[in-house]
Amino acid sequence: MCGIIGYTGPRVAAPILVEGLRRLEYRGYDSAGISVEHNRTLSMYKRAGKIADLRSHVPPNVPGTVGIGHTRWATHGGVTDANAHPHMDASGAIAIVHNGIVENYLQLKSRLEKEGCTFRSETDSEVIAHLVASFYKGDLEAAVKETVLLIKGTYGIVAMHAAEPGRLVGARNGSPLVLGIGEGEMFLASDVTAIIAHTRQVVYLEDGEVVSFTADTYTTTNLRNQVIDKQVDHVNWELEEIEKAGYTHFMAKEIHDQPEAIRRALSGRIDHEYNTGHLGGLNLSNRELLDINRIKILAAGTSYHAGMVAGYVLETLARIPATAELASELRYRNPIVERNSLYFAVSQSGETADTLYAMREIQRKGGRVLGICNVVGSTIPRESDGGVYIHSGPEIAVASTKAFTSQLTAFYLFALIMGRMRDLSHDAGRQFVRALEAVPAQIEQILANKAPLQEMARKYSRHENFLFLGRGINYPVALEAALKLKEVSYIHAEGYSAAEIKHGPIALINEETPSFFIVTDDGLRDKVINNMKEVKARSGPVIALAVEGDKEVASIADDVYFVPPAMELMYPFLMAVPTQLFAYYCALERGCNVDQPRNLAKSVTVE
Ligand code: G6P
Repeated sequence: MCGIIGYTGPRVAAPILVEGLRRLEYRGYDSAGISVEHNRTLSMYKRAGKIADLRSHVPPNVPGTVGIGHTRWATHGGVTDANAHPHMDASGAIAIVHNGIVENYLQLKSRLEKEGCTFRSETDSEVIAHLVASFYKGDLEAAVKETVLLIKGTYGIVAMHAAEPGRLVGARNGSPLVLGIGEGEMFLASDVTAIIAHTRQVVYLEDGEVVSFTADTYTTTNLRNQVIDKQVDHVNWELEEIEKAGYTHFMAKEIHDQPEAIRRALSGRIDHEYNTGHLGGLNLSNRELLDINRIKILAAGTSYHAGMVAGYVLETLARIPATAELASELRYRNPIVERNSLYFAVSQSGETADTLYAMREIQRKGGRVLGICNVVGSTIPRESDGGVYIHSGPEIAVASTKAFTSQLTAFYLFALIMGRMRDLSHDAGRQFVRALEAVPAQIEQILANKAPLQEMARKYSRHENFLFLGRGINYPVALEAALKLKEVSYIHAEGYSAAEIKHGPIALINEETPSFFIVTDDGLRDKVINNMKEVKARSGPVIALAVEGDKEVASIADDVYFVPPAMELMYPFLMAVPTQLFAYYCALERGCNVDQPRNLAKSVTVE
């Protein structure tokens, strides 16, 4: 998704802007550009393509110590140089960058055209530059405020004016902006990743807020011009955590981060005396937790699959009806909010528009929504009624891996708390805690035995269709495995309950369509084995993920990968990791751009 960087200070701006954009690359984009001010004149460089294309387009030693930059992920208008940001007004005195969507841009555009404006791009964003120009009377901040009052939709905007050297103005509604306060210099970005090489002191803007700043001062106001005192936060993510740490791809690094990430998500959150969990941020008393009789989980993509697993665990441990729903669907079906229901908004980035808007809809109806998020200070945790940070560290690869298992960890702790308040005994609680604490080391065992998965990828990566099949708690894992494979390798993959194949998907089975079965040692094992035989009988290649020592599965499958034995509820962790590795290796075999798959964005801030 689009990224923003702004800089003002004593240093030459262009290299700082380009480097900031490079750090935002992971969000997904298709073009990029910068604009800098020097001697009251703005220059602009923009290119469709990658940051490397922009870098070679920007002449060396472009002077100017203030500027803005943008990575664009096309929504309105194709991927062209002209549609890349920044956009300027007719005089070239004003430049803006914009994340989000101006929903009423056609109406605004036709009005501006009647007033004589000529548009140079097909974007919705360009109207902003012309509107700021039309309102400008010597005060950029005032002109930006008048502009955003006319805009319907979402925006994170940064604007600069050649006549106000050294000043940048940012405004936020629905698209994140964070101010970075350096020593005699300031930054404004859509994401802290772009600025933490320079400063750790940050101010997060809220919707409806505007920041106006120079190298050493800033003021934040709302649209009624009231000054807002903002808290300065300290970011403690390390830059090295964002780097690849010796791995070829972020996806590989993040898969390997999982044992540590899960330990972090568990850290300080287990009460061994009572064999329960401890989650400080829920903002709910035990009495309130006891009154909850339904749980709904809202999310998108991988987070939705984590929510589906969580529903299963909550129902098993706490005997509370718990289901996950696609946030995008929930928002528009006039959801029924019951008094004693508790909602979770699950989002790695904390910025996914579908999830955020669904959360707001539930809150508007009086529902209580807790966030399960990774990015600290992002919008969902800030607007939620409480929640749990998963503390995975930055997840850079577009395909989510470690966030999935850390989201599970947070939910498992919550399910433990709810279970121990209800029917789950002290002993059962202890067994669950032990099993959960064993997961990181079991994942380490899997990570130490990757060769068979790489071998399988070599054998199967040329196939164009895959089925992933699981039952019970591993059914959502099959959905997630299929999503991972299609995201990074572009192989068509579908996830199904193994029980469902006879109702349709079995029609796809032939020697060209491998089926990837997830088989655990639970009550459904024999049924899954029957499904495997049904596929074999129709000449379908069978790959199985099974539990160590399962000779029967090994005798049926063409290829099998074994995971260590565990408590039934822990298999989603242990089964997910090999499927992530399989997807990763398939993508490598096919020469795909693993970390930034085509058409995808890390954080999708449009509906
Ligand atoms: C995008 C990403 C997915 C991710 C989904 C939800 O589509 O490409 O990998 O699962 O958004 O993201 P979130 O940040 O809300 O977990």
